[in-house]
Amino acid sequence: MKDTSDRFATNPLRRDLLKKLGLGAAAMGTAPFIASTAAAQSEDGEERAPRESEIGFRDGEFVLPPLDYDYDALEPRIDVETMRLHHSVHHQGYVNGANNALRKLDEIASGEGDAGLVKHWTRELAFHGSGHTMHLLFWNNMTPDGGGEPSGDLADAVNESFGEFANFSRLFKAASVAVEASGWGILGYEPVSRRLVVLQAEKHHDLTVHGVVPLLAIDVWEHAYYLRYQNRRGDYVDAFMNVINWDDVARRYRAASG
Ligand SMILES: [Fe+2]
Repeated sequence: MKDTSDRFATNPLRRDLLKKLGLGAAAMGTAPFIASTAAAQSEDGEERAPRESEIGFRDGEFVLPPLDYDYDALEPRIDVETMRLHHSVHHQGYVNGANNALRKLDEIASGEGDAGLVKHWTRELAFHGSGHTMHLLFWNNMTPDGGGEPSGDLADAVNESFGEFANFSRLFKAASVAVEASGWGILGYEPVSRRLVVLQAEKHHDLTVHGVVPLLAIDVWEHAYYLRYQNRRGDYVDAFMNVINWDDVARRYRAASG
């Protein structure tokens, strides 16, 4: 089979698919993916260079960036071994899967691949591509110095959308604990109503509301917590609330809400 790697960085189909995934800017090599693009602003809203941990696409391929903190930095709330496996093995798997799906779709686009498998490979791209972007968001949503409550514009938006922070916290934790099987709890910006919403995602992408920009996400797949918390997902969700990087969430909110 002909090597298509040289076309991988410039293929129009790939760009279109990335745009649909919210990854268009990343495809051009000018900015990290949409949620990271949102973060790539300074406190005063000026653009800044993305941190290394926010760059999930480089030289024509999805890549696994390093974390901003050490694997043991979130102890005792999230244990070092979970972090090591989660980042280096699980997240890497989504990176590999997304790259493979894009290559297969490029082959179909060029007439060299099996068009009968387009449904399979678009599903693979949706799963692995969403797995990659959600983990990029998740890692940057956390910090060893996290927790507390948001401030500024984000605090105002939380109050306008949910009444008060305690209401948001109650809803976000309930949604995260109640995800059926593997998935995510999400705080997102909904651009039609211009308000914040809490959503669940099953797997990485099922139950998506198109247009919503995820700002904060907690991974509730068992691989995210089982070593430390076993079946006590609620305890893990409570612990996560204490590592949230609200500055990161606020930057994403400012960018998403324009
Ligand atoms: Fe995960």
